[in-house]
Amino acid sequence: MAYRLMTVVGARPQFVKAAVVSHEIARIESLEEVIVHTGQHYDENMSQAFFDELEIPEPKINLGISGGSHAEMTAAMLVALESTMLQEHPDAVLLYGDTNSTLAGALAAAKLHIPIVHVEAGARTWSMTNPEEINRLCADRISSLLLASTLAGAENLKREGLGGLSQFVGDPMYDAFVNYRALAKRPTMRSAADGALVAMPERYYYLTCHREENTGSDEALRGIFDAAEALDAPMVYPVHPRVRRRALSLLQQRDANVIAVDPVGYLESIYLVDHAEQVITDSGGLQREAFFAQVKCTTLLDYEVWPETMIGNRNMLASPERRSILQAMEAPQAIDESYQPFGAGDASVKIVQAIMRFGKVG
Ligand code: UD1
Repeated sequence: MAYRLMTVVGARPQFVKAAVVSHEIARIESLEEVIVHTGQHYDENMSQAFFDELEIPEPKINLGISGGSHAEMTAAMLVALESTMLQEHPDAVLLYGDTNSTLAGALAAAKLHIPIVHVEAGARTWSMTNPEEINRLCADRISSLLLASTLAGAENLKREGLGGLSQFVGDPMYDAFVNYRALAKRPTMRSAADGALVAMPERYYYLTCHREENTGSDEALRGIFDAAEALDAPMVYPVHPRVRRRALSLLQQRDANVIAVDPVGYLESIYLVDHAEQVITDSGGLQREAFFAQVKCTTLLDYEVWPETMIGNRNMLASPERRSILQAMEAPQAIDESYQPFGAGDASVKIVQAIMRFGKVG
């Protein structure tokens, strides 16, 4: 009988990582994968578009749970995932990253004594006001196999007494970047305000901003738009649904140098990264993708999630206000091509090998 893995995903960055690992799992006869989508991200261009273009197998189950407070969302997922796990009898549960879907999957599996494999284990911001930090810490603490994307992540786990369960495998997001970069497509962008087609500017800065820390009030967005006014090319800004209303209302009040568009798919986002003058973001994924593409990045947070990307000024922290952002953007980056902290683009192979060893799958 094949070793039955239940993959629980829910949010955009998880679809990207699960895609490359899922393709690897499909090559191994003694492994079977059941994909469960919690429903956390549900708009066509936040979810299905990723499954289509990355050719991820359709989820067997979609729980359709999204929105609400953290407690509401996580609790609803926890209840639904428990019965799904009881029904599907997985040998192990495979989880990615740090979203509420990750936390709910971890809690449900641990209470049913189902081993958990956590990919992207050991990442730390050391900031307990960052909701993802709580998700990461809890998931790591109750997982059975901890697969770190960087050596720093593996070190963190060792310091927390979890070294015996962990290993460095590399970052599946880097695998995805390496595999899909050649397929990146020039985006067909639609205005976030009225859905009209928007022409791609020849030169642009790529902005994303969706974190709770930056979207809870107008202040951060105002500061970012102030910085955009000083730039020699517009910021192209695919707007996450969480912040759509606030961003559009602020942009309506001014003549900012910002092109607000609907969220783009993975292949379009990779194109935007690869051709941008610079990236300005609060996304952990985009920080790494900018690093992979050797594009300078400014991160709108006051903590480092991926310290590996910060070397040589390649990624710099800024507070979301004009002076701080422009200062970070002006500092030139120094690139050492031999520095590859995210592995060799074979993380998905190593992840599957680690799972097979863990599950004693022949
Ligand atoms: C989540 C993750 C974050 C990750 C991000 C990737 C948590 C705590 N955070 O944040 O780590 O970086 O995904 O994008 O899990 N919404 C829609 N349509 C969608 C998706 C979301 O309208 O397709 C709305 C939701 O209903 C909600 C808001 O956007 O009101 C925020 O979505 P949520 O899933 O709670 O968190 P993200 O900000 O996407």
